[in-house]
Amino acid sequence: MQPQSKLVVEHSAGECPIYIDSGWLPGIADAIGRSTPRCAVITDANVEKLYAAEFFQSLNQQSSQCVLLTIAPGESSKSLDTAIDLYQQLLSAGIDRQSTIVALGGGVVGDLAGFVAATWQRGIRLIQVPTSLLAQVDSSVGGKTGVNLPSAKNVVGAFWQPQEVYIDTKLAGTLPDVEYTSGLAEVVKYGAILDDHLFASLESRVEQLNRRDPQVLVDIVLRCCQLKASVVKRDERETTGQRAILNYGHTFGHAIESVFGYGKYPHGHAVSIGMMAAARLAQAMGRVDEDFVERQCNLLTALQIPTRFPAERHAEVIEVMKHDKKAIDGHPRFVLPRGMGHGELVEGVSPDKIADAMQRSAGGSK
Ligand SMILES: NC(=O)c1ccc[n+]([C@@H]2O[C@H](COP(=O)([O-])OP(=O)(O)OC[C@H]3O[C@@H](n4cnc5c(N)ncnc54)[C@H](O)[C@@H]3O)[C@@H](O)[C@H]2O)c1
Ligand SMILES: [Zn+2]
Repeated sequence: MQPQSKLVVEHSAGECPIYIDSGWLPGIADAIGRSTPRCAVITDANVEKLYAAEFFQSLNQQSSQCVLLTIAPGESSKSLDTAIDLYQQLLSAGIDRQSTIVALGGGVVGDLAGFVAATWQRGIRLIQVPTSLLAQVDSSVGGKTGVNLPSAKNVVGAFWQPQEVYIDTKLAGTLPDVEYTSGLAEVVKYGAILDDHLFASLESRVEQLNRRDPQVLVDIVLRCCQLKASVVKRDERETTGQRAILNYGHTFGHAIESVFGYGKYPHGHAVSIGMMAAARLAQAMGRVDEDFVERQCNLLTALQIPTRFPAERHAEVIEVMKHDKKAIDGHPRFVLPRGMGHGELVEGVSPDKIADAMQRSAGGSK
């Protein structure tokens, strides 16, 4: 079966094709089965319940030597402990250098399985089958893999590019609302800082996006992957600062996540509020006009993504921002828009302006 859309990510070790279509999970398994004689499919218990049987049925018609390894859902599984469990299971299953690891799941599975693939027998083939919207537009593309330490996120890891990425946009249909809208926030981010056409096309397709129309999602996910691929090509290992452009809304967002507790405030929702604070900061600096701030706010709201955080916690969030060495003194770097579809890294922003923008993003109820 030929997927509807394809793009290619160019990276230092070669190329990675991304295939995108809707309602073709059996076709994905079939394609993987044909190219991989032996594989370990890593997934989490939620995705297993929904999709593993369908996936394995098609996979096994092609290849009889695939095992399913299931982790507990959630960020806490992205750990060295879980990686060690998986290594043991790979050993028992005879997964060798000729085998492939298939990551079937959201960003947690993708990052963890990617890290395991990067390190097992000094690195074996990896295929990503992202099942959450966030993983489809962000984490499965670009080759960042890793795990958390109990005290710090994403600090242990490796750049390890997948051989192929297969995306089925119909899978978004079963995501909990909060996970879907969290992924949509990252989609809006791509539009606001990289592509005004994408932003306008989101504005004109709110209704289809809210009912998770898989065809519209093929189009949108394709554009997001193209944008991420072009950034990754220019700055694969985040050494020139260009990849940092994808952090729009994230400096403010991380402060919100840290006050509310990582994993408690959905990442995309924190980023959405962070994008509003960044937009207000950009407006205060004369970089964008009121129309930009309103358009961004209206689109996020129409997509049912929060744009404000609870007023009663705003003092704490501002405190965290103030003590964020990177954000305030040293070398403050913010991604701020200059007009729709253009983000730039900006240094030396005054702490007062930052606190003010944050204050103006408080006031809603979560
Ligand atoms: N590598 C990168 O470049 C990169 C970029 C952004 C984020 N990340 C990482 O991604 C992770 C977050 O990813 P996420 O938001 O996908 O979280 P996740 O993997 O925890 O998935 C969210 C939830 O949705 C469930 N789920 C996944 N697909 C489903 C489906 N089709 N139907 C029903 N339920 C489904 C999962 O079981 C989980 O409960 C974080 O660890 C973050 O650090 C990595
Ligand atoms: Zn993010």
